[in-house]
Amino acid sequence: MTLPQSQPAMIDLDQVSLSLPSRAGSVDILNSISLRIKPGETVAMLGPSGAGKTTAMMVMGGLEAITSGRIKVAGHDLMALDEDRLAEIRRDHIGIIFQAFRLIPSMTALENVAVPLELTGAADAFDQARQALDDVGLGHRLDHMPDQLSGGEQQRVAIARAIVTNPDILLADEPTGNLDQATGAEIMDLLLATAERHNTCLVLITHDEGLATRCQRIIRIADGQIAADSGALSS
Ligand SMILES: Nc1ncnc2c1ncn2[C@@H]1O[C@H](COP(=O)(O)OP(=O)(O)OP(=O)(O)O)[C@@H](O)[C@H]1O
Ligand SMILES: [Mg+2]
Repeated sequence: MTLPQSQPAMIDLDQVSLSLPSRAGSVDILNSISLRIKPGETVAMLGPSGAGKTTAMMVMGGLEAITSGRIKVAGHDLMALDEDRLAEIRRDHIGIIFQAFRLIPSMTALENVAVPLELTGAADAFDQARQALDDVGLGHRLDHMPDQLSGGEQQRVAIARAIVTNPDILLADEPTGNLDQATGAEIMDLLLATAERHNTCLVLITHDEGLATRCQRIIRIADGQIAADSGALSS
């Protein structure tokens, strides 16, 4: 089924496959994944460990090259772009919350969150970064270095860094994985509010079925393939 011209997909994967070499030979990580995600759509991605969820997200963020197929993000064919253009697409459209946080160890929480804004040349980068850290409940930890923060606090700095630019696309890899239930629910509220306010398309990887049901659409990944997609008919 094709989308009307007025609403092109924000993320468009067409028969995307990815194989990587390993000692035992080539391993199929993603196997012919096709999906279209609309602007502002909130999508949960579920599936067993090793199913390919993080890899699928890295592909959507232009951080992992694919072996075959086609991928379009915000109207750009990622396979046709060089590294510099890919970095610009990420800067201008995408916020990513990595499973392993990836904070810059030599920078404070505030500096880490200000980085994506400084890349866009924002004059009030530090004011916005302060607000984003306040939003994730870390207004009292601005000057802490990552190694002076708990795992859950580091995760929340990574979340603040991803949402601070109000991106078109928010890719979140188990963003509440290190948080207690109450804090996790609050962060989920924040992610959904951000998505709604800025018509951000949210792709949320989670193992939590309860959190997943808060998204408009649920995609289940198994063995590098889409095993179920509650939004398949509408997209
Ligand atoms: N660079 C690589 N080289 C070879 N195999 C890899 C590489 N990266 C990932 N894999 C394999 O690809 C599969 C999918 O990994 P991925 O990280 O996408 O899983 P996941 O669904 O995110 O799992 P989890 O829930 O544990 O985070 C795994 O079996 C993993 O071992
Ligand atoms: Mg993963």
